[in-house]
Amino acid sequence: MNKDPTAPLIWDWPLRLFHWLLAGAVAGAVATAWIGGNLMLWHGRLGAFILGLVAFRLVWGLVGSNTSRFSQFVTGPGAIIAYLRGQWQGIGHNPLGALSVLALLGILTIQAVTGDFAHDDIAFQGPLAQAVAQDTRDSMTRWHRLSANLLLGLVALHLAAIAYYRVKHKQDLVRPMLTGRGPSPSGTGTSGGPWYALVLAVLVGVSVAWGFQGTWLAPPPAPVTAPVHDW
Ligand code: HEM
Ligand code: HEM
Repeated sequence: MNKDPTAPLIWDWPLRLFHWLLAGAVAGAVATAWIGGNLMLWHGRLGAFILGLVAFRLVWGLVGSNTSRFSQFVTGPGAIIAYLRGQWQGIGHNPLGALSVLALLGILTIQAVTGDFAHDDIAFQGPLAQAVAQDTRDSMTRWHRLSANLLLGLVALHLAAIAYYRVKHKQDLVRPMLTGRGPSPSGTGTSGGPWYALVLAVLVGVSVAWGFQGTWLAPPPAPVTAPVHDW
């Protein structure tokens, strides 16, 4: 366990804030879907928020701090094999953990996008559902259910991996995700990201969350009523 307050900062605060907001929002989205009813409105809002968070993360992964950048931790099979042989030395996500990061971000994107076209057979449907045919709505709903199960499986695997590192390698991954500070073989920490990258990532995240709520869609046409004759 790394409780050393002078240990290098390996996770910058935007990444940590992103992570805990994401975990809370995903828990909220799953709970609201299971409870259903009026909470489906909040389910949709949380889904849009999650998509905004993922968009933020993608931008931060391109232009943010070094430990957040995909170019730093997404590697080829060679690096994964080297890691499995115990030959990897670095900070941030290891080459194997990087696969789970990509899988989680990918499945969350699929989940939010299919949700936007899904319906619950009762009173709630995603804001973009009205823009597509019934067949498409139905298959998006099936995909949304399927990917929800896949997502729950990945989250379970995520938590199991963290527990495994704790028990088997006596390595606490959670504390660095909370405080930012963690072990670094070279003694170097995260570079931190430039402020304009943070502004850009937040702007993209907010735009995506807003765009996927479908507020820009024209309202559906009013129902055509038969003319009333008073003779
Ligand atoms: C629905 C719940 C969760 C989701 C969707 C989720 C998702 C993620 C994602 C996407 C990352 C990669 C961070 C990045 O963008 O670089 C990550 C990393 C991490 N998460 Fe979670 N997470 C969840 C719950 C949790 C919980 C409850 C814990 C603590 C017990 C946790 C601990 C961690 C840690 C320690 C890392 C860093 C792993 C490493 O050192 O490579 N997560 N998580
Ligand atoms: C990434 C975020 C999301 C997560 C984690 C999520 C999760 C879930 C889960 C677990 C279910 C229950 C599936 C089942 O019955 O087996 C569900 C259902 C549903 N979700 Fe989402 N969802 C997300 C985003 C969205 C969004 C953005 C919308 C629309 C605005 C949406 C609309 C729906 C609808 C309409 C259902 C009911 C489908 C049915 O009756 O099976 N979801 N969602």
